[in-house]
Order: sequence, then structure tokens, then C-alpha cells
Amino acid sequence: MHPTRATPKRRTPKPDACAWLRIVNDLRGRPSESFGALAVSSRSFDEYRAMFALTDADLRRRILDCPAGAASFVARAPDGYACDLAYANTPGPALLRHVQADNERLNRYIRLYPDQYRWTYFSTADQHRTTRRASAERFADDREARPGRYLPGALPNLPFADGTFELVLSSHFLFTYADRFDRDFHRAALRELVRVSSAEVRIFPLVPIALNTPYAHLDQLRAELAEDGTRTSVVDVGYEFQAGGNQMLVCRKT
Ligand SMILES: C[S@@+](CC[C@H](N)C(=O)[O-])C[C@H]1O[C@@H](n2cnc3c(N)ncnc32)[C@H](O)[C@@H]1O
Repeated sequence: MHPTRATPKRRTPKPDACAWLRIVNDLRGRPSESFGALAVSSRSFDEYRAMFALTDADLRRRILDCPAGAASFVARAPDGYACDLAYANTPGPALLRHVQADNERLNRYIRLYPDQYRWTYFSTADQHRTTRRASAERFADDREARPGRYLPGALPNLPFADGTFELVLSSHFLFTYADRFDRDFHRAALRELVRVSSAEVRIFPLVPIALNTPYAHLDQLRAELAEDGTRTSVVDVGYEFQAGGNQMLVCRKT
């Protein structure tokens, strides 16, 4: 009888807050630099519903998704509009190729650092990849069919009149890229999102990439918004993929 050999311990890579940035930084230097150096991601309508706790009544409102990237929320929102830097002079096929390449990079990161994620919404990395790929295709089809719904624009100066949208949604941009955008940019962008809304803005998540604690200047920004007459609240939602990312900031005009 052979002695049982001890199974070698699988070495899991050490979580590294910079790994995400290294992967995202790969995007630099590519011909599609004009999209900006951030990943263009493609969350689905169902993710948006969960991230922003959207009710059926919310979905009947005139909604702006900004920056929408390649999310497929607008493709299913009856009165939805998308705005993103990436739509400027970017034909559909080129943007879709870019997004699917970004999806692969993000999926690679998730496989490398599974402990930074909660596996309840997605149960596997394969499911994440399939969902995000399908969502990008849905976005691309809808943008081709209804180009008027997809408007180029860059925060903090959006091409919309005051109060154009009843509800403004902003996913995985503000707070997420705390390392790229300083507090002044965050304040200006928040004010701009509030300006183009007639009633309400929701922002998700409150945690920067690779961290699980809320954005460091959140309280200060909320105090500044209050001075402008905007009431804010932090609301728990029933979606958490990035660990710690299960709250949204709701801003209401008074
Ligand atoms: C991580 S993606 C989020 C996309 C989508 N909201 C989602 O959750 O899947 C970030 C997006 O921000 C866009 N972006 C970067 N800088 C911007 C700016 N100053 N104004 C508007 N969009 C910007 C990028 O093009 C990219 O599509």
C-alpha cells in the first residue's frame, strides 16, 4: 500500500488593489484610446434593476443612463436614453469589439481574484462572461436600431437642458474610479447629473474598485450637495457583486 501523498496546496494569488488597474491600463495605447482609458462595460437590464432597486413605476419614467457604456438597460427601458464618452465618432462594430475585449479582461481579473466578489448574483465566472457578452450584443443591436437613444457626452458637461430626465442612473463610474478622478471632478459630475434631472439621481456603487469601503469623500460631497438644495440618502440594495458594493446614493432635488 502506498502512503497517501499530500495534495499540494493550490496557491491563490494574493489580492492586489493594483491588479485591476494594470489590466485596465492595458487598454491604454490601443487605437481606441479615444474611448477614454476606462473599461467600457456592459451590465444587463436585470443588473440595473437590482443595482438601482428599480420598481415598475420607476421604469415608466424618462430615464438617463450616464455613463451607460455598453449596458443594455436602455434597450429595455421604455423611455430610456444612454449617454457616454465612448459613443463619440465610434461606429457600432468597433465599439462592440472594444467592449468584448474589455469584458474578457474584466472576466480574467474576476477569475484571478474571486474573493473580491460575492457569488450570489452570478454563481460562476462563466455565467458572468456569458451575461456580459450577451448584454453587449443587445446594446449594439439597439444602438444600431435606435441611434437617437445613444448620445455622446462627457461628464461633467452633458449636452442636455436642465431637468430633461425624471430619473438619472449612473453605474460604475463615480466613486468607482476614485483613483482617476479627484474630489472636484466628483463634485462637478454629481452636480451635472442633478442638473439634468428633474427629480432624482441614483449612483451605484459607493465603493471604489478593489476596495470594500465607501468612497473617502462621500460625506463631504453629500454636505456640498445639501448646500445646493439636494437631499441625499444612502440606500441598501439587493445586489452585491463587488464585495461591499451593495448601496446606492440617492439624490433628490428639494
Ligand atoms: C465601467 S463603464 C460603466 C458602464 C455602464 N454604466 C455599466 O455599468 O456597465 C465606465 C464608462 O464611463 C465612460 N466614461 C469615461 N469617462 C467619461 C466621462 N468623462 N463622461 C462620460 N462617460 C465617461 C467610459 O466610456 C465607460 O463606458
